[in-house]
Amino acid sequence: MPRRFVRERRRDPYYRAAQREGLRSRAAFKLGYLDDRFHLLAPGDRVLDLGAAPGGWSVVAAERVGPEGEVVAVDLRPIAPIDRVAVVRGRVGDPTLEERLPGEPFDVVVSDLSPRISGAYATDHARSVDLVRAALALARRVLRPGGTFVAKVFDGDLVGALLDEMAPSFDRVRQTKPPASRGASSERYVVATGFRPGRLGRTAPGPAGPVPPASAI
Ligand SMILES: C[S@@+](CC[C@H](N)C(=O)[O-])C[C@H]1O[C@@H](n2cnc3c(N)ncnc32)[C@H](O)[C@@H]1O
Repeated sequence: MPRRFVRERRRDPYYRAAQREGLRSRAAFKLGYLDDRFHLLAPGDRVLDLGAAPGGWSVVAAERVGPEGEVVAVDLRPIAPIDRVAVVRGRVGDPTLEERLPGEPFDVVVSDLSPRISGAYATDHARSVDLVRAALALARRVLRPGGTFVAKVFDGDLVGALLDEMAPSFDRVRQTKPPASRGASSERYVVATGFRPGRLGRTAPGPAGPVPPASAI
């Protein structure tokens, strides 16, 4: 790990709070913020968490949906067991993933999927948009009517078209940047509520092409 990164991380108040509170990642604060602001998670909800490793969001979701709820966590990487969370190791974008999910529908689908960062902004942005499209395609198949979809995206010129594609499928689509997102980071979260099944928007492939296979990420 580069020294500068380690030094900055030690100064990061969200990293320090995550360590103090025994959370699996500083990302946990972002879902907490999104839920406090948009009231995404209710007791008893079924939640699908895409790009879930190491499990920060899943821990928060499991707490907030309570013992009557259920969380299913999906990632390419392994996730150490979490109370009341079912873990599915797999790739979002793989058409067979849905068959391995324990039951449908879900009340909420959240995606914190991130591409492996190349450092080339246009490439990372396009890959991030492709991951949102893959998560959205899955969400459209597994969300209940009225359900909620939340996804991280790296901001850039492809986001407008992405929001246009999402709009017909939801009552409302909003964007936000949680305080725990690093100031310089281009990440945003799209919060889409009131799922309307069967009203597909146009889905154009991004310039980076389809979501790459697991081995390439
Ligand atoms: C920022 S991390 C998620 C952090 C997590 N929300 C937390 O709170 O601990 C992004 C994750 O996306 C996963 N990922 C990227 N592309 C994926 C794909 N196509 N399918 C499944 N997981 C993917 C990565 O393996 C990585 O673990």
